[in-house]
Amino acid sequence: MASDASLPASGTRWPAITKPRSDWNVVPNLVDYDRTRAAFSWENARRDLDGLPGGRGLNIAHEAVDRHAAGRLATRVAIRWLSKDGQRRELTYADLREGTSRFANVLQALGIGNGDIVAALAGRIPELYIAALGTIKNGSVFTPLFSAFGPEPIQTRINIAKARVLVTTPALYQKKVEALRGSLPSLEHVLLVGAGASFAGTRDLAALMAGADSQFVIPPTDPNDVALLHFTSGTTGKPKGAVHVHEAVVAHHATARFALDFHDDDIFWCTADPGWITGTSYGIIAPLTHGLTSIVDEADFDAERWYTILEKERVTVWYTAPTAIRMLIRTGAAAARARDFRSLRFLSSVGEPLNPEAVRWGVEAFGRPFHDNWWQTETGGIMIANFAASEVRPGSMGRPLPGIDAAIVRRVDNRIEVIDEPGIQGELALKPGWPSMFRAYLSDDVRYRRCFADGYYLTGDLARRDSDGYYWFVGRADDVIKSSGHLIGPFEVESVLVEHPAVAEAGVIGKPDPIALEIVKAFVALKPGFEPSETLRRELLAFTRVRLGAAVAPKELDFRPSIPKNRAGKIMRRLLKARELGLPEGDTSTLEAS
Ligand code: WT7
Repeated sequence: MASDASLPASGTRWPAITKPRSDWNVVPNLVDYDRTRAAFSWENARRDLDGLPGGRGLNIAHEAVDRHAAGRLATRVAIRWLSKDGQRRELTYADLREGTSRFANVLQALGIGNGDIVAALAGRIPELYIAALGTIKNGSVFTPLFSAFGPEPIQTRINIAKARVLVTTPALYQKKVEALRGSLPSLEHVLLVGAGASFAGTRDLAALMAGADSQFVIPPTDPNDVALLHFTSGTTGKPKGAVHVHEAVVAHHATARFALDFHDDDIFWCTADPGWITGTSYGIIAPLTHGLTSIVDEADFDAERWYTILEKERVTVWYTAPTAIRMLIRTGAAAARARDFRSLRFLSSVGEPLNPEAVRWGVEAFGRPFHDNWWQTETGGIMIANFAASEVRPGSMGRPLPGIDAAIVRRVDNRIEVIDEPGIQGELALKPGWPSMFRAYLSDDVRYRRCFADGYYLTGDLARRDSDGYYWFVGRADDVIKSSGHLIGPFEVESVLVEHPAVAEAGVIGKPDPIALEIVKAFVALKPGFEPSETLRRELLAFTRVRLGAAVAPKELDFRPSIPKNRAGKIMRRLLKARELGLPEGDTSTLEAS
């Protein structure tokens, strides 16, 4: 059975956590893994959804909102919003239908239609959810911008998307957008949520909504019409806009059933921000297509607040991230054990490697393990997971979902060699064909095509598979940084640093961090006439923070006489990292003499 090949990359083997049937308080959706996989087809999965009335296609907003609002779930709470200052606002499915219909009518009145891009820059407020689903209802394309982005990432993304509409708040507009307005040529309308200050060239969303019709008939929607645009980062170049279509909802729905074990009466809490794809696929869409009640918490992480939400809101299924779990661990299991978590049935995590310790800590603190799962912006939905009815192997991402074929491969020139033997490290690859797969990188066909070879989508992650088919994450094949679950492209940070008058060159890496996995660390070489100093270091950190925002800016910055580059002029970030961590420098034969 457990041969050496089933050992995780680290070589340690934590005992698997099994969940005897006697512990089930509901029967999990996926009990027999092999049989369910064998019987599964995406055509059948599609039958769990309605389609637009009259055979007019498939629209995410119909599946998530309107079909429930027309039936017995009309009065069920769809979103329970907890504001930072202690307010509670509930939107039923009927309320959500009305709000999204009004929003779609607002867009119509502005002349925004099929395929037009609507961006949102907001914290976790109800209007963000209404704007997202209202945009999709209208056949327009929703693109979220993380509210902790600074002006630079906002500008880049709005311009790549060619967004025509931006929904935001007066505070965010003033702080991050107003000064840029002249360099956002595509942006025609800014709709502000919340009364208060009014700015030239903006409109009050509440007033527009109040004047709009509360009924909206969803226009015919082809399953391949674009619905969502999600930005992600690579090692080089600008952010990439991953294009997702309405058909993705088939995968959102089916994967949530298998990997998050959604059941009819669940109260679900996805802690991810809708500025990132987890917060839309599973923070907005999937719980609604299943007719569940979702908790939306406006506030940032706070251990006591989170425990109170889990306990008092009687959350049954919780989807969170390793950084948050590590922060909870730091506050100790006692605080969790003092609570009543009897309602909590299923704990899951995504976005970065989940330490085996953290999986086990779930048992200690909540009486249940965390179930790690794996996916990417590009895959649109969960691809690999630890399931409710299967044993959890701490440190493993789990097994591919029904409908998903994964492999470990090796790139040899332009071809792919599949590594069948277990235990060997290679690149994680997936066979295309699932409905939520990205259909393009906006305006970057070359980069899109580079992700595929020999009938596989190449994920850019390194992993191993053990002899029982569980996948173990090893690392990324590129220089992209993962900090608090967010992907950060080093190039985006370097580009801002070199705009500072004192900076000649910059190289940016992810430095290992016990909580955030990595923090952004910058190395800077100064122009002649500038000397390293504490004042300049602080100035540069502040400069990047203002431009990039707290989520992307470096937390640490060191001066270097020069930044190592190869002979082609490419920054050798791996070398910067090896030097920073005191690791072997590896092959430096291409290093440019400095
Ligand atoms: C990258 C994708 C998950 C969707 C939202 C983030 C890393 C993701 C895991 C995991 C180890 C993970 C990978 C992946 N990642 N889940 N369970 N274990 N690493 O999507 O921002 O596109 O990031 O996150 O490196 O490629 P994303």
